[in-house]
Amino acid sequence: MIRLKNQAMAIILATQDKKELEVLWLKYLGKKGELTSLIKEIPKLDQIKRKEIGMLANDVKRAIEETIDSQKLKAEDQRLKTKEFLDVTMPGKQPPLGHLHLISQAIEEITRIFERIGFKKVTYPEVEWDWYAFTGLNMPQNHPARDEWETFFVENLSHPKYGQTVLTPHTSSGQLREMERVGRPPIKMLNIAKCYRRQSDISHAPMFYQFEGLVIDQGINITNLKGTLDYFAKEYFGRERKTRIRPFHFQFTEPSFEVDVTCLVCAGKGCRACKQGWMELGGAGMVHSVVLKNGGIDPKKFTGFAFGWGVERVLMMKYGIPDIRLLFSGNLRFLNQF
Ligand code: FA5
Repeated sequence: MIRLKNQAMAIILATQDKKELEVLWLKYLGKKGELTSLIKEIPKLDQIKRKEIGMLANDVKRAIEETIDSQKLKAEDQRLKTKEFLDVTMPGKQPPLGHLHLISQAIEEITRIFERIGFKKVTYPEVEWDWYAFTGLNMPQNHPARDEWETFFVENLSHPKYGQTVLTPHTSSGQLREMERVGRPPIKMLNIAKCYRRQSDISHAPMFYQFEGLVIDQGINITNLKGTLDYFAKEYFGRERKTRIRPFHFQFTEPSFEVDVTCLVCAGKGCRACKQGWMELGGAGMVHSVVLKNGGIDPKKFTGFAFGWGVERVLMMKYGIPDIRLLFSGNLRFLNQF
């Protein structure tokens, strides 16, 4: 694979002819191209090798594509420079116009949807104390539920009351911070932030975004939670899409649920990206009384609901994006479609 990359780079960099560059694209990346043929062999490798070679193949593919694109630009520049006649009435060269990244667009859209029903957007720290991420959320030290969050710890930084420092693994860490900030309910928070976990595969990234809703007031119940989630799903995915809630367990909500939407990649048939036609979008539930108490709120007077969903997951399910890693690849061929 490396030999192929070196050979391809040398040939591409020595070429500044647009037609020849098209031919080189077919030679390496076309349906029967040399790299494409190597990629077809990857599924035959054992699991560890498959992952390693798969990642390498993606890098090589990107490098070849980008080098061909930049050589084409150079060829165009050269063509313009060597033209004998300068037509001063020709319109100028337009600088390439960029746009917001797909994830930023989604964050804006999600924010607008929730602001319409009175949620207030906040952002809380990415580097967080253990208390806000775990202990205060009813997950004391050594509680097995913590395993789910596959956390990155920051070494040598701890607080006598708040414990160790972590890269926040979920936006639920904003729940207690919001209760402390507001003091007395009503609370209607939308917290959108980066989260970090030691995970990487087709539907997991080590750095990803979550959006977290928290509503606390007198008389808040599950119907309010379900209505809010239905409202979001219909606004974001369209009225025809189906969602479902499943009973689940989180230490900081009781009862707890997970929310799924029908998978757009396989139209609900079942594929590598989803679970039998359903894609998990996030968790939700009624705020646990221990969490309310930790936030200084009296659980006898107030109740609340919370939900935390993945921004990339909802994006994948809106457009049928088959692999979360595409969203972080910086690949312009992919990004320019949106
Ligand atoms: C949580 O993180 C809970 N804090 C959610 C919650 C909030 C429950 C409020 C109850 C009340 P979970 O670990 O399942 O739960 O993650 C929630 C969602 O974040 C997932 O369904 C998925 O959409 C997204 N997510 C989680 N890990 C990753 C990852 N590594 N890459 C991309 N998205 C992820």
